Amino acid sequence: MNKDFNYSGLKIGIIGGGQLGKIMSQKAKKMGFHVTILDPTVNCPAAQVSDKHIVGGFYDKEKLEQLVQETDVTTFELEHIDTSILKELYDNGHNIHPSPYVMELIQNKYEQKKLLDEKGIPVPLYKDVKSDEDLAAFGFPVIQKVKLGGYDGKGVQMLKSQADIKNCLETESFIEELVDIDKELAVIVARNMEGEIKCYPVVEMLFDERVNICDSVMAPARISKEIEEKCIEICTKSIQVLGGVGIFGVELFLTKKGEILVNEIAPRPHNSGHYTVEACATSQFEQIIRAVTNLPLGSTKLISPSVMVNILGEEGYEGEPFIDGIHEALEIPELSFHFYGKSYTKPFRKMGHITVLDDDIDKALEKAMKAKDVLKIKGSKKI
Ligand SMILES: Nc1ncnc2c1ncn2[C@@H]1O[C@H](COP(=O)(O)OP(=O)(O)O)[C@@H](O)[C@H]1O
Ligand SMILES: [Mg+2]
Repeated sequence: MNKDFNYSGLKIGIIGGGQLGKIMSQKAKKMGFHVTILDPTVNCPAAQVSDKHIVGGFYDKEKLEQLVQETDVTTFELEHIDTSILKELYDNGHNIHPSPYVMELIQNKYEQKKLLDEKGIPVPLYKDVKSDEDLAAFGFPVIQKVKLGGYDGKGVQMLKSQADIKNCLETESFIEELVDIDKELAVIVARNMEGEIKCYPVVEMLFDERVNICDSVMAPARISKEIEEKCIEICTKSIQVLGGVGIFGVELFLTKKGEILVNEIAPRPHNSGHYTVEACATSQFEQIIRAVTNLPLGSTKLISPSVMVNILGEEGYEGEPFIDGIHEALEIPELSFHFYGKSYTKPFRKMGHITVLDDDIDKALEKAMKAKDVLKIKGSKKI
């Protein structure tokens, strides 16, 4: 897409039709672009707001090919996709961003970590494991991670002692030291085709301990200026090393000793960047559309402190979702409510989120926690 490209009528393809694809599509539609979604689920969140839905899986070569061929540029809301056909299409000159080569590298958490480590980015101590002996030699406690296909805490587990080896994940995996975490931080980073990089503010991720899903995000993080600057430097360098075009969610550990380590990088808009919709000059969802269509990146300025909370499916329910407490929640000032439109709820499924603004971050947190207490996604069946 060069400078004389006619942007009216631009066609964007998005692989994945969940909540990230939905908001990306809404931002692309705001700019007047045509959006096609590829997703296996009829009436998935993104299909509800897009021009066209190709119903197909992320490993369906024919459907991936159709999407790329019918659109001017293809991007992603998830990394678990077939890269072989996309690499072929990319090599034949189709616009796919981030490139399928970058996607392939990131898909493998071990290869991702190895590359960052080799380029001097600080990461936790890690080691490939081929046998139980390799595992035992590293010492305990240890974190075991599957190389491919993990997400939302699935594919990550702690082995406390030798006795846990019998419970270890039986797929290709590697191990990491158990980091003494003070805070989990994240930075959304945008990179465009010219290689220009812009970072969003450093945020703090809070986890639902029951399932290890990040369920709240505070922007900005409660850290010193010095730590903040170091995070931005590390995240910028990480994305320079990767070299892709689009939006990247860089997850960091701040250790109790004050070190900053890169945990992993998502090559797409990230849960920790939901807050940017209401709290930043340009949201991560508009930013990815700008980046992959060769438009200038927008400002990443934080307009107001904010807290985002994921609304997860209530334990004990599944089926058609019912929103409890919406009236009470929406009484809270400066609260913005997002419901993804998924037709089925399950315990801990990401069903929506809220973002609360306040000049005072502690007050924003208070208001967000109140909303979290009253908003419940129940289902048509008790389980
Ligand atoms: N080396 C580690 N030490 C301590 N905790 C870890 C380590 N690696 C991961 N975790 C915890 O597990 C969570 C999920 O791990 P992560 O690698 O980010 O996988 P996922 O793909 O599920 O997000 C992290 O957010 C963190 O809370
Ligand atoms: Mg993670």
